[in-house]
Amino acid sequence: MKLHLPSFYTLVFAQVFLFFFINLQWLQANASSGKATDQLALLKIKQGMISDPHGIFRSWNDSLHFCNWTGITCGRRHQRVTSLVLEGQNLFGSISPYIGNLSFLMLINLQNNSLTGEIPQEVGNLFRLQEFLVNNNSLHGTIPLKLTECSQLKTIDFRRNNIAGKIPAELGSLTKLEIFAFRNNNLTGEIPPSLGNLSSLTVFSASFNDLEGNIPNEMGRLTNLNIFTIAANRISGIIPPSFFNITSLTLLSALGSQLSGSLPDNVGLVDPTSSKEHRF
Ligand SMILES: *[C@@H]1O[C@H](CO)[C@@H](O)[C@H](O)[C@H]1NC(C)=O
Ligand SMILES: *[C@@H]1O[C@H](CO)[C@@H](O)[C@H](O)[C@H]1NC(C)=O
Ligand SMILES: *[C@@H]1O[C@H](CO)[C@@H](O)[C@H](O)[C@H]1NC(C)=O
Ligand SMILES: *[C@@H]1O[C@H](CO)[C@@H](O)[C@H](O)[C@H]1NC(C)=O
Ligand SMILES: *[C@@H]1O[C@H](CO)[C@@H](O)[C@H](O)[C@H]1NC(C)=O
Ligand SMILES: *[C@@H]1O[C@H](CO)[C@@H](O)[C@H](O)[C@H]1NC(C)=O
Repeated sequence: MKLHLPSFYTLVFAQVFLFFFINLQWLQANASSGKATDQLALLKIKQGMISDPHGIFRSWNDSLHFCNWTGITCGRRHQRVTSLVLEGQNLFGSISPYIGNLSFLMLINLQNNSLTGEIPQEVGNLFRLQEFLVNNNSLHGTIPLKLTECSQLKTIDFRRNNIAGKIPAELGSLTKLEIFAFRNNNLTGEIPPSLGNLSSLTVFSASFNDLEGNIPNEMGRLTNLNIFTIAANRISGIIPPSFFNITSLTLLSALGSQLSGSLPDNVGLVDPTSSKEHRF
C-alpha cells in the first residue's frame, strides 16, 4: 500500500501561509484595538468636561468617526489621533488621565479655557508629544514628573495657571525643549542647574511665580536662549557672568527680583507688564 504524504514543499508552503495569515490577523486586531483605545480615551476626555457652552462635543457622537470630531486630527494612514485642539471654547472641567492612551498624540492645545484639576501623570506615556499648550486655565497641582519622559517635547506652555511646587531637575533631560513658559503660576524653590542642559531652549518664561535663590551659572550654557524672564519672583544674587556669553539673548526681564550686577550689552531689560514680554 502506498501512502500519500504531503510533499516537503507543500508543508513549507502551508507553514509560510499560516505564519502570514496569523500575523495579518494580529496586526489587524492590533490596529482596531488602537482605534478603540483612542475612541474610548476621547469619550473619557469629553466626560471630564462639565460645561461646554459652545457645544463642540455635540459632534463627538457615534454617527461620526472620531477622526472627524471637532478639534481632532488623525494620521491619514493609521487613523489614530495626532492632535487635540480645543482652545478658547470656555470649557470647564478637568483633563482625564485617559489622555495618556492617545499614543500617537503630538499636539495638545487647550489654551484659553477654564480647566481645573491637575495635569495627569499619564501624559508621560505620550512619547510622541511635541507641544503641550494649556496657557490661561486654572490648573493646579505640580509639574508632573512623568512629563520628563516625553522626550520629543518642544513647547511646554503652562502660563496663567496655578501650578505650584518645584521645577523638577529631571526636566533638564528634555534636549528638544525650545519653550519653557510658566509665567503667572505658583512655582517655588530654585531654578535647577540641570536646566543648563536644555541645549535647544530659546524661551525661559517664569515671571510672576515664587521662585528663589540665584540664577544658576549653568544657564549660561544655553547658547540659543533668546528670552529669559524671571520678574516678580524672589530671585537674588548677580546675573551670572556666563550670561554675557549668550549672544542670542535679547530680552531679560527681572524687575521685582533682587538681582544686582551689570547686564550684557546685547540684552534689553524690560518691564514684565510690557507687551513685549507678554508674548511669553
Ligand atoms: C453628530 O454630530 C454631527 C456633526 O456635528 C451632527 O450633524 C449630528 O446631528 C450628531 N448626531 C447626534 C445623534 O447627535
Ligand atoms: C487607558 O487609561 C486608563 C486610565 O489612565 C486606564 O485605566 C485604561 O486601562 C487604559 N487602557 C485602555 C486600553 O483604555
Ligand atoms: C486667548 O484669548 C485672548 C483674548 O481673548 C486672545 O487675544 C488670544 O489670542 C487667545 N489665545 C488663544 C491661544 O486662543
Ligand atoms: C483667557 O481666556 C479667556 C477666555 O476663556 C479670555 O477672555 C481672556 O482674555 C484670556 N486671557 C488671556 C490673557 O489670554
Ligand atoms: C545636566 O546638568 C547637571 C547639572 O549641571 C549635571 O550634573 C548633569 O550631569 C547634566 N546631564 C544630564 C544628562 O542631566
Ligand atoms: C565664555 O565662553 C568662553 C569660550 O567658550 C569661556 O572660555 C568662558 O569661560 C565663558 N565665560 C563664562 C563666564 O562662562
